[in-house]
Amino acid sequence: MNNDNMEFDYNFYNNIDLKRILDKYGSPLYLYDEKTLRKNCREMKNLIRYPWFVANYSIKANSNIELLKIVRDEGLNADAMSPGEIYVLLKAGFKPSQIFYVGNNVSADEMKYAAANGVLVSVDSLSQLETYGQIGRGGRVSIRFNPGVGAGHHEKVVTAGSNTKFGIDSTLVNEVKEIAEKYSLKVVGVNQHIGSLFLEGKPYIEGVKSLLHIASAFDGLEFVDLGGGFGIPYKKQDSQNRLDLSYLSHGLEKVILEWMKAYGREVQIKTEPGRYVVAESGVLLGTVYSLKVNYGRRYIGTDIGFNVLMRPVMYDSYHEIVFFRNGKLLTGEKRSIATVVGNICETGDVLAKDRLLPDDIQEGDIVAVLDAGAYGYSMCSNYNLRLRPSEVLICEDGSDRLIRKRDTLEDLIAGYDIK
Ligand code: LLP
Repeated sequence: MNNDNMEFDYNFYNNIDLKRILDKYGSPLYLYDEKTLRKNCREMKNLIRYPWFVANYSIKANSNIELLKIVRDEGLNADAMSPGEIYVLLKAGFKPSQIFYVGNNVSADEMKYAAANGVLVSVDSLSQLETYGQIGRGGRVSIRFNPGVGAGHHEKVVTAGSNTKFGIDSTLVNEVKEIAEKYSLKVVGVNQHIGSLFLEGKPYIEGVKSLLHIASAFDGLEFVDLGGGFGIPYKKQDSQNRLDLSYLSHGLEKVILEWMKAYGREVQIKTEPGRYVVAESGVLLGTVYSLKVNYGRRYIGTDIGFNVLMRPVMYDSYHEIVFFRNGKLLTGEKRSIATVVGNICETGDVLAKDRLLPDDIQEGDIVAVLDAGAYGYSMCSNYNLRLRPSEVLICEDGSDRLIRKRDTLEDLIAGYDIK
């Protein structure tokens, strides 16, 4: 980490008073910015200049219903991964035709739920295609292929290639066609998602070429869905480069238009961005509650356990972490290595290991975790019976609004039949 580089603007969201927000809504909490969210939606919506291009927001990244309404308002459609996500999307006002169910190992009942709600289903194995054929004979379906090569920031999120459960092997096109024919299913789309978080456009474009090659084997497609994975630079202090959207869009436009000419008809193109839409619109705020040195290692103890933000523990993910006191960023003349930890009863509860941090961090200081809007709240849990935090939105006019309440102690026993 280059600590001399403090050029990044840490004054979140129009210099909002973080202490006031924490006093008002409690610590920890997720704070989102409507302006940033709308900007990122527009970047994804306009990625490809082609009249039948649509970006489907992959809501697993963040499914807060108030944020979903903003995403819908910006003209994005959505991907769902479960009946729960379909249900919430419908509640957020998305039309069934705007929702795409990209299921994986789902039950016939789940497929029926999607179909009964008018939502198109993607299947990602021959056996799931059989299942869908039995319940949706004569209907429309999309096929998720695995082009054989994946990408991603961690092996756990590479979703194509031989080391993953996802997608149908691209050599099985004939088998797909046979099953579809057996049940009079119309294959209206092919889709893929090769992995999460790329910062270079080239491998994505190569992956798209593979998918388009597979798509050519199907007549009468209505769409080709290229998947998500668009990365954001988490290493702000190192001035990590952003994904070059203009390179990506030019590359994609060229490949797609050439393919479409050869295919002989115009087909809708979709993408499935999750992280890019929400990550940078969210900051996770918490409080420093204890400081200690254990046999030479300096620890900063906060209320941000891995029940609140799972990513560092799950994927060794890096998030920039900064501290504030009296509305000011602690830049720290003097710094030393420290490990930032949460309040969960596990040694692995580490938010940031061995960072060079100001020596003068004190109890009561605010800790802010950047780029926490994606896969933050959506991966929260009640582990250790901790309460999931609240979510607060800074609206375009600068006002703040509670968009999800913190859990209560009563919520922890809501599922029991206690007399
Ligand atoms: N489409 C499909 C079928 C997916 O499985 C995913 C993410 C996406 C789209 C959106 O990918 P994105 O644009 O957000 O990269 N929890 C991990 C990321 C898991 C991604 C799972 N699939 C993390 O925190 O990094």
